[in-house]
Amino acid sequence: MGRSDCGSPWPTSARQAPACGQVTVAGVDLAEAAERFGTPVYVLDEGEFRDRARAYRDALPHADVAYAAKAFLSRAVVRWLREEGLHLDVCSRAELELAVIAGFPVERLILHGNAKSPEELREAVRLGVGRIVIDNTAEIARLVALVPRHDRQSVMVRVVPGVAAGAHRAIRTGTEDQKFGLSIDHGDAEDALERVLAQPRLHLLGLHCHLGSQITSVRPFLAAIPRLVALMARIRDRHGVVLPELDLGGGHGIAYHGDEPALEPREFADDVARHLHRACVEHGLSVPKLVVEPGRALVGPAGVAVYRVLAVKRTGSRVFVAVDGGMSDNPRPALYGARPDIRLIGRRGAAATRRVTVVGRFCEAGDVLVPDAELPTDVRPGDLLATPAAGAYQMSMSSTYNLVPRPPVVAVRGGQARVLLRRETVADLLARDLDAN
Ligand code: LLP
Repeated sequence: MGRSDCGSPWPTSARQAPACGQVTVAGVDLAEAAERFGTPVYVLDEGEFRDRARAYRDALPHADVAYAAKAFLSRAVVRWLREEGLHLDVCSRAELELAVIAGFPVERLILHGNAKSPEELREAVRLGVGRIVIDNTAEIARLVALVPRHDRQSVMVRVVPGVAAGAHRAIRTGTEDQKFGLSIDHGDAEDALERVLAQPRLHLLGLHCHLGSQITSVRPFLAAIPRLVALMARIRDRHGVVLPELDLGGGHGIAYHGDEPALEPREFADDVARHLHRACVEHGLSVPKLVVEPGRALVGPAGVAVYRVLAVKRTGSRVFVAVDGGMSDNPRPALYGARPDIRLIGRRGAAATRRVTVVGRFCEAGDVLVPDAELPTDVRPGDLLATPAAGAYQMSMSSTYNLVPRPPVVAVRGGQARVLLRRETVADLLARDLDAN
């Protein structure tokens, strides 16, 4: 993905001027963006997002690449996806509506969810969503009731291949100790597949699985393939149906720090193609069309969060650097023990550094952004701190804890910045309160 002066977790377009501490992304000075849009501010490099989308399309020219909206979605992102020829995976009414409002082709949408509401299913069928991924048997009858006579809804069935993968317990979904999917080992998957096949109003496209998130090796995917293909072969043997598609979900990991590995689309594509081919030959099956659903790998490295330091204090043996954001815009450290990379930007800091704890502004001791950051000794109130690889699962998971308005998301391209999501206002927050006594 080219070269960044700032190192690997930063967007390729990031450049630094060490003499003055200036950092630019896509030609936009982050300190100027902080002045103009206020802090905290999330900066999203459109070129990085598009390059990553293209890298997936190039590596997997015969597959459908569906971006997972849950990582971050806005109308502009929908447009970029449409233009880059990607598909889109949504999992709620509003994600679905946003995609449709922004003109995304419905046949390229995939609807997910372990507990889709009747309304979500109804809307998806009505709009003609390309694939609905069934996660439990109750959905089968519900869907059948919604599909008009002589019509057919294309579906996949989410199965649990029994492969553990992912960076944290909360985001591992490939084994049976969690809520998603239907067990292959216990026969639930096969039972559901049989029921779907018995419904003329449902068109079974294939199997779906999602092993987990922030997976940095291709090995778990390769381990899942023989199990999935064996199930496809059983379906062929028992029902005479050859399933045309296989969806391996998302979960492709990124580097949050310079020394961390990332799952490269090219390596993933080559290894998966080889293993899939081999497994299919073994069972005498034709190779199904592949679907993949990366979210983080597209948008994560495109994002940078910029905070302003509000206070620096020593308590006991620790130095706390408090910034104006924290666990509401980035809940990942509190939820998964994530440790963002962080650096001083906008001015040159002292050469000497010290270990500090960067904390947020929210009313919990657990609101720690980085427990052991190495920052210049002279970091002081008014300074700007930036964390790279901030594009995924931060703004999309942000909350309004302490009634603090959520930050804006600003897209940058060719030296220009434009607001995708404006900063929330106090008025926005208070507007929901109807003051009913
Ligand atoms: N497909 C399905 C069915 C999923 O459930 C997910 C993510 C994805 C695709 C995309 O996964 P990705 O490529 O982005 O890893 N909040 C957590 C991550 C939760 C992921 C949930 N499902 C985090 O911040 O690490």
